[in-house]
Amino acid sequence: MFKKIFLLLTIFLSSTAFADTVLITGANRGIGLEFVKQYADKGYTVIATARNPATADELNAIAKTNSKVIVEPLDVLDHAAIEKLAAKYHGQPIDILLSNAGISGGNEQQKLGNIDYEVYAKVMAVNVYGPMKLAEAFLPNIQASQQKKIIAVSSSMGSIKKTFGLLYIYRSSKSALNMAYATMAKELKRKKIIVGLVNPGPTDTDFMSGVKMKLRPPELAVTDMIRNIDNLTLKTTGAYLDYDGSTLPW
Ligand SMILES: NC(=O)c1ccc[n+]([C@@H]2O[C@H](COP(=O)([O-])OP(=O)(O)OC[C@H]3O[C@@H](n4cnc5c(N)ncnc54)[C@H](OP(=O)(O)O)[C@@H]3O)[C@@H](O)[C@H]2O)c1
Repeated sequence: MFKKIFLLLTIFLSSTAFADTVLITGANRGIGLEFVKQYADKGYTVIATARNPATADELNAIAKTNSKVIVEPLDVLDHAAIEKLAAKYHGQPIDILLSNAGISGGNEQQKLGNIDYEVYAKVMAVNVYGPMKLAEAFLPNIQASQQKKIIAVSSSMGSIKKTFGLLYIYRSSKSALNMAYATMAKELKRKKIIVGLVNPGPTDTDFMSGVKMKLRPPELAVTDMIRNIDNLTLKTTGAYLDYDGSTLPW
């Protein structure tokens, strides 16, 4: 009898105290929300951040039924808020830091001859400085974890080799993100921290509204990215992975 209780207690403790944790930005809709659902289904503790939790109805509904999904307010433009959140989680291991929040910058404002530099600055601040600041602030949490993974959702639009013109702002922001994270991968390898860039492929979210091309459902895009994140090792750190697991050219 005592043996059985001890065994059950051990299983309970190992599934709670040592459960993996993921922090996701832009978790209230689109790909970020789907990441929340799938990591929660896998039993992760999910720190789901959103700019405006008060209106994040679907995310709040998930958190209401799953105590391991914690909703936190975070605008990645606000570096003081990133530091404050990191201070709140001081000492808590975070296995996967997942920078998902991103913006495109629209269409007209990024046509050659009509580039809006205020929009450009904002896209860079969200898509590049945000993931960089997040990695800086949460580095001790990653270091303290089992998986030690810093991941950003990039895009094939950041591939210089694959460019076919248009979308100057968005493309250059994702190229800059790629360079920042590739550099971080080199530096953090000796600390056994794994860094990766994942591409969801064309995915049916608000981000792509009005785009006339075949889009994949977020469920599929996220399943593919999670598999690619799972497969990342120190050996492949710094990889820029397409949704099918192949390596994208820089
Ligand atoms: N969809 C695609 O086909 C596709 C393809 C390649 C790459 N991606 C990348 O995938 C990621 C997610 O895209 P998605 O398709 O899910 O886009 P989405 O549906 O437009 O969602 C974007 C998310 O980012 C959040 N966000 C925007 N600015 C933010 C800020 N300053 N601070 C915190 N959160 C902010 C949004 O929050 P609010 O609700 O508050 O605005 C929202 O949660 C992006 O990095 C995008 O570049 C998407």
